Amino acid sequence: DNSWKSIGPLYKYQGFWYIPWVLRKVISAQESFTPQPTDVFLCSSPKSGTTWLKALAFSIVSRNQVNDSTNPLLENLPHEIVPFLEIERTQNSSNRNLEIPLVATHIPYTSLPKSIIDSGCKIIYICRDPKDVLISHWNFDLKVIGIGLESFPLEEALEQYCKGIYPYGPYWDHVLGFWKASLEFPEKVLFVKYEDLKTDGPFHVKRMANFLGHPFSVEEEQQGVAENIVKKCSFETLSRLEVNKNGKYYLPELPNIENKYFFRKGKAGDWKNYLTNEKAEKLDQIMEEKFSGSGLV
Ligand code: PPS
Repeated sequence: DNSWKSIGPLYKYQGFWYIPWVLRKVISAQESFTPQPTDVFLCSSPKSGTTWLKALAFSIVSRNQVNDSTNPLLENLPHEIVPFLEIERTQNSSNRNLEIPLVATHIPYTSLPKSIIDSGCKIIYICRDPKDVLISHWNFDLKVIGIGLESFPLEEALEQYCKGIYPYGPYWDHVLGFWKASLEFPEKVLFVKYEDLKTDGPFHVKRMANFLGHPFSVEEEQQGVAENIVKKCSFETLSRLEVNKNGKYYLPELPNIENKYFFRKGKAGDWKNYLTNEKAEKLDQIMEEKFSGSGLV
């Protein structure tokens, strides 16, 4: 059974599972997307912290306006500011705001358009505890797709997830692809963990800024710019903005999604409210096996 219940059958392409319309966009990106030389790609598996990473990276590269009343983050969902490569209009540069050199994608490393790899563009990858990823996705599906709990029980989602059948999954292969690339090309691929951002945001914002070639000056350090960015991009701040409470995300490819669904709880460890220890252990064991020897824990 290759189905992710809320969506329907997924199709395997180059080792990963896709929703059919997404797969068409992945292939068209592979065939025809050309990045700008200064583009930075924000990569993630769905529900790993994409929205947060978009807000942070945008704030780092546009830090001079982070305190302004015109800061785009105050009026726009981060997904409106940093577009997904899988969305048709993003694939044509003339539709992009080229002043924002950021593009996001869930495409796994080994399937990224060759043009991105060849161009040497930088990549930031965010990963998250697989248990929280599953819980986040499952909750999102129940709300967005609006199917009943009884038709997509968590047990079923977990079972599929453990088999690797998950949009852009297997999750472990998604993470490993970027992890290995970050070891091989540390100047091109930066690997960040959701949980680390939670525990020491400013440190990782500085890491990202250095990596992006926009390090904080001594003056900015003294002014606490990194700390301020963390605050402005926190779950608490973003989820309370009017646009993220009541706005809608319109895409021809998707059902209309309410922005608030991208901000559910924003915590590390919410899986504890959903999974028994036994189920959590099963998932942990699979991940441990898959990650063994990679240096990733
Ligand atoms: S998507 O659809 O792939 O773009 O979703 P993604 O943004 O990757 O994942 C959504 C989860 O991220 C949480 N979130 C945040 N956490 C911390 N800080 C900030 N600012 C933030 N913004 C969104 C969001 O609540 C989802 O996690 P859960 O566990 O469901 O709350």
